Amino acid sequence: MTLTKKNPKTFFIRTYGCQMNELDTELMVGTLRDRGMTRTTEEDDADLIILNTCSIRDLAERKAMGKIGQLGRSPKRKAIIGVTGCMANAKKETLFRKLPNVDFVLGTSNLHNLNEVLDEVVSGSKAIRTDSSFSFELDYTKAERDDKVKAYISIIRGCDKYCTYCVVPYTRGPEVSRSRDDIVEEVRQLADKGYKEFTLLGQNVNSYGKDKPEEKCLFHDLLYDLDKIDGVERVRFMTSHPVDITRELMEAIRDLKSACEFIHFPVQAGSPRILRKMHRIYTLEQYMEKVEMLRTIVPNASLGTDIIVGFPTETEEDFQMTYDVLKQIEYSVAFLFTFSPRKGTPAMRWRDDVSQEEKERRLQLLMELQSEIHTKQRTQMLGETVEVLVENLSPKSPTQVKGRTRCWKNVVFDGSQSDIGELINVKLHSFNHQTLYGERV
Ligand code: 5AD
Ligand code: SF4
Repeated sequence: MTLTKKNPKTFFIRTYGCQMNELDTELMVGTLRDRGMTRTTEEDDADLIILNTCSIRDLAERKAMGKIGQLGRSPKRKAIIGVTGCMANAKKETLFRKLPNVDFVLGTSNLHNLNEVLDEVVSGSKAIRTDSSFSFELDYTKAERDDKVKAYISIIRGCDKYCTYCVVPYTRGPEVSRSRDDIVEEVRQLADKGYKEFTLLGQNVNSYGKDKPEEKCLFHDLLYDLDKIDGVERVRFMTSHPVDITRELMEAIRDLKSACEFIHFPVQAGSPRILRKMHRIYTLEQYMEKVEMLRTIVPNASLGTDIIVGFPTETEEDFQMTYDVLKQIEYSVAFLFTFSPRKGTPAMRWRDDVSQEEKERRLQLLMELQSEIHTKQRTQMLGETVEVLVENLSPKSPTQVKGRTRCWKNVVFDGSQSDIGELINVKLHSFNHQTLYGERV
């Protein structure tokens, strides 16, 4: 039996996955507010519930599927339920079959169709838009941002790299860059409103512009453009593929006041054989050479990484090579994952032959190593004075504020509301596992 859905007045959005999804949620919030709707913080109060989903690993999908199932059994079954994000792109209309309480499915390139699908649902039918054109029609100036200091800016969608474990090229499609003028204009408008820090987002940001050679604007050119805008204090970017990290980019980081000295440089594995099997298109030597080049050009750069353990056929010896890379490079941020077979990817066809227990053991060893590295890095920073962009009051104490260094480290120190949005020099005196503490100088 289908329930009649009333015209929704209130909405609740739950976001899973990456920063791209967070930004897409902000875009939907803007669209729904324009429609006259109010956002609620409790799903029980909402007439419309949107789950902005992620497909990168099985756990992320299971969480969202579980949540939708649970909504169908709860009193909230009268609310309109929509699925957006990567699962919408990947599963399309099959979602209606698997989860009969879903009212609409909206792909990541179709968020501009949100009003239309809501109207269709209210008039009594299920609705779906999952174009495969992957155009860049989205108008991010509509995004309603929670943060008043830092903003995500989408610059490229999709990925052409086809790593053998990854669903992104299938769920988000090929690389499509946004126009340079639109990006510059959006950053200019936000800087005028007082935003200080901009994180350029894409599955592979450093490929920016390659799909539009006529515009003659590659990623590093964009950094030069943004640096010229008044009020732009910091520019970051996520995420990168090592192959597209160029000398020109490193020189831009060295030369531009706004470009932060932090690069996410995901190695994924340390074994040359596993790197080949992952189709990462670099050898370990090439990767190490690039890291060396970065350290020569930008000596104070911090590096981040993503690593997958337990990829099909990964032996103890292969794993040891990953361990050694982590130890040698001393990343300041490491996102560590166990391999999760994803439907439609080449790696799905290979036997997932490392047991879950063994994957967890390898993950644990890397986590322990990374924790030692963090402690060492933070100990070395004590006594240093760092520039902190204050983002908000500390959630633990109203007389303290919280912000980040240029290299993405969390810092807490005494301060008040009026410090939010300011760049303040802080001398560091202590730390715990997540945060550095200091006092302003
Ligand atoms: N299993 C585990 N981790 C994955 N990632 C991507 N696909 C998978 C998968 N199938 C990780 C990669 C990537 C990060 C965003 O997620 O490390 O860089
Ligand atoms: Fe996935 Fe990143 Fe590889 Fe693209 S480069 S396929 S997004 S892991």
